[in-house]
Amino acid sequence: MKSVLIVSLCLLFCYSCSVRAVEEPPRMPERTLTEVHSGLFYQSADTQALQNDNFANPGLLWVDRGLTLWSDDSAPGVPSCAECHGNISQMRGVATRYPTFAAEKNRLLNLTQQIQECRVTRQHHDPLPYESEILLALTTAVVHQSKGLPFDVTLDKQTYPYWVAGKNYFYERRGQMNLACNHCHEHYAGRMLRGDRLSQGHGNGYPAYRLQWQGVGSLHRRLRFCNQGIRAEPFDYGAAEYVSLELFLAWRATDLVVETPAVRR
Ligand code: HEC
Ligand code: HEC
Repeated sequence: MKSVLIVSLCLLFCYSCSVRAVEEPPRMPERTLTEVHSGLFYQSADTQALQNDNFANPGLLWVDRGLTLWSDDSAPGVPSCAECHGNISQMRGVATRYPTFAAEKNRLLNLTQQIQECRVTRQHHDPLPYESEILLALTTAVVHQSKGLPFDVTLDKQTYPYWVAGKNYFYERRGQMNLACNHCHEHYAGRMLRGDRLSQGHGNGYPAYRLQWQGVGSLHRRLRFCNQGIRAEPFDYGAAEYVSLELFLAWRATDLVVETPAVRR
């Protein structure tokens, strides 16, 4: 009888702990990186110079396209982004809060998905593929408005389970090479791998211009590459798993500022 009581007390205690963990996320869980560096730090001097050049940075072409799309009022009866939101500079700071929990959708949304939402529900366009030039250009232009600002994602009752999923994904081994994200981006950051100097794997420059792509790509495109690099099955663009990972990455990059559009090898 006594042992039954002790066991049930233990169970009750464990249960209340786990419930508390979900309802009251710690304000700042411990981060494993002691020194945080942006991916720019690990690039060659030429690539660094290209990113920092406000005229030659090729990613700025996507920002320009995004600006044109922002105020595009050529379709009759379709309000432009600008008509509802004003000058795009009003978007300063918005990207630092994404991914964020969208109550109407009851799920975590990243910025590209929010833009897709506006295009579909408010402009009545058909949904576009995640990695389409239009969504890339609009996302790049909107994120660029937050250049220089630190990340500011919210960890609360709603977002915490996604953060946990993202964190678990980051530290789980996978693929034929049986590696987790942290093996390359924490243990081996700074070392060379097939011509690349491994960075800490932050997303603060995305969408980014990659010389190998000859174009701008999303963070999800980069994550798919990382999965394929270890022969693990990549998720689809916009997959919930990647959006959770994105939340974890944004939180992990709290000491960094937005650099979009970054330039990468
Ligand atoms: C086998 C090693 C390896 C693994 C494992 C790996 N990556 Fe990468 N990752 C790379 C390489 C190489 C690059 C390009 C160079 C760099 O920036 O590190 C890269 C780049 C990145 C970047 C872009 C950094 C920047 O500033 O441009 C992010 C973000 C990233 N990885 C996240 C992840 C995540 C999340 C995982 C786990 C799902 C992961 N990576 C797993 C090798 C790896
Ligand atoms: C008919 C008006 C309307 C149009 C057109 C519109 N939006 Fe929105 N948008 C809204 C409203 C209202 C919200 C706020 C809803 C919300 O926060 O969920 C919003 C939210 C957003 C947000 C998130 C803001 C935040 O603070 O989190 C972004 C980013 C955004 N829109 C981008 C765009 C882009 C890019 C376009 C053009 C492709 C566009 N919107 C077109 C009405 C519009």
